[in-house]
Amino acid sequence: AEKLNARDIRFVPMSALEGDNVVNRSARMPWYQTAGKDGQPLLELLETVEITHDQNLTDLRLPVQYVNRPNLDFRGYSGTLAAGILRPGVAVKVLPSGKSSTVERIVTFDGDLEKAYPGQAITVTLADEIDISRGDWLVAADAEVPLSNAFEADIVWMHDTALETGKLYDLKLATRDLAGQVTAIDYQVDVNTLEHKRADHLDLNAIGRCRVELTAPIPLDDYRQSPGTGSFIVIDRLTNVTVGAGMIHRTLDTELPYEFRDHDSKADVVWNRTSVTPAMREQIKGHSGKCFWFTGLSGSGKSSLANALEVELNRRGYHTMLLDGDNVRHGLCKDLGMGEADRAENIRRVGEVAKLMADAGIIVITAFISPFRDDRDAVRSLFETGNFVEVHVDTPMDICEQRDPKGLYQKAREGKIRDFTGINSPYEPPRNAEVVADTETAEPQDIIARLLKRL
Ligand code: ADX
Repeated sequence: AEKLNARDIRFVPMSALEGDNVVNRSARMPWYQTAGKDGQPLLELLETVEITHDQNLTDLRLPVQYVNRPNLDFRGYSGTLAAGILRPGVAVKVLPSGKSSTVERIVTFDGDLEKAYPGQAITVTLADEIDISRGDWLVAADAEVPLSNAFEADIVWMHDTALETGKLYDLKLATRDLAGQVTAIDYQVDVNTLEHKRADHLDLNAIGRCRVELTAPIPLDDYRQSPGTGSFIVIDRLTNVTVGAGMIHRTLDTELPYEFRDHDSKADVVWNRTSVTPAMREQIKGHSGKCFWFTGLSGSGKSSLANALEVELNRRGYHTMLLDGDNVRHGLCKDLGMGEADRAENIRRVGEVAKLMADAGIIVITAFISPFRDDRDAVRSLFETGNFVEVHVDTPMDICEQRDPKGLYQKAREGKIRDFTGINSPYEPPRNAEVVADTETAEPQDIIARLLKRL
């Protein structure tokens, strides 16, 4: 019991066989007394046990459940006071925005209150018009509540389908709903011995200490300090079933989620998260999205190899898309020439398109000269490790020129084409390509076999 950190321990002698001291007091245990009085049966004890000492009367917390605007003259914020004592005139601030104001009235159906206590359902009006929405908290103006998008919590799992790390769930924390995932399970607690053991998932009724990551930073409380704002439930996003419940142990520092990081878009934009995730799209396809990026000189054989790879993947039932340099320059990139800046923009656009397609669950194969290392590396950085496979089609320049399938080398030699790769524009070979295809010594089918193995 000591390990459970329980502050109030009672003993009830009982027997389930005939229900002694379960619902009704048993006549067979007259010796069961507490403080000189007849001892209470279990149910009565559970219904009357004093729990107010678990309430936090110090740290004001009003999670807003509803913004009540019946007409233009009234704007109230409704919710159940989770902690602290609220009075008109108290200086408050809104989290996560940090904007502050003063409480004007505490409105209830039975009239205004001079004081509100934890557990009371109230509507609060403020002296200033500030932007507050459902899920926000009102706290004391001088309170220091950490905003974070990650925390450690004890989660009890309540569903037949086990808790999976890395899977997106909906979390409901106080009055706020948002998406999040368990990134790691630190340990599972053996409920009989209280021992910790390793776990990579939590089965029905299992309890585990988990690291949780949310899609946005919000105020977080330690459960022991404020149960109402320090607890949450876990909801399956597809079935809407409540699958788990948790108590926050402490907040963690992490990298901000994507939408809160600095970005170099020219417009004021945030990242809108979609409910259907890449992982959910992959599940329907039966395979994950990836990018095979072929790079090499003009005439090196990129397009032929890319085409052969797509044929083999298509035969095996993979959903593929081939993006070819010449073809893309007929449409998406027809405004671009062959100068260094235009080539960089060409590769940037194609990289972004490939990333979108891979997020849709498609295996994208690209065939672009992509002569500049920085441009290729920028595309690589869009993908998670392992999902970008750089294939260097390493055909020597003299062979490409001999082949000259489009007669372009000859034209370039005659000075009719400017910025021609290998002649008057550089090619920077990859330093760490996942695959180097030496078309001089290897047969195309052997190269394709190697790429399939890689997949
Ligand atoms: S990249 O450098 O921006 O990656 P991309 O692969 O799209 O080039 O286009 C290359 C194709 O454009 C070549 O296969 C060739 O047919 C054609 N082309 C036209 N002008 C040039 C040039 N100056 N240098 C290289 N390829 C050129």
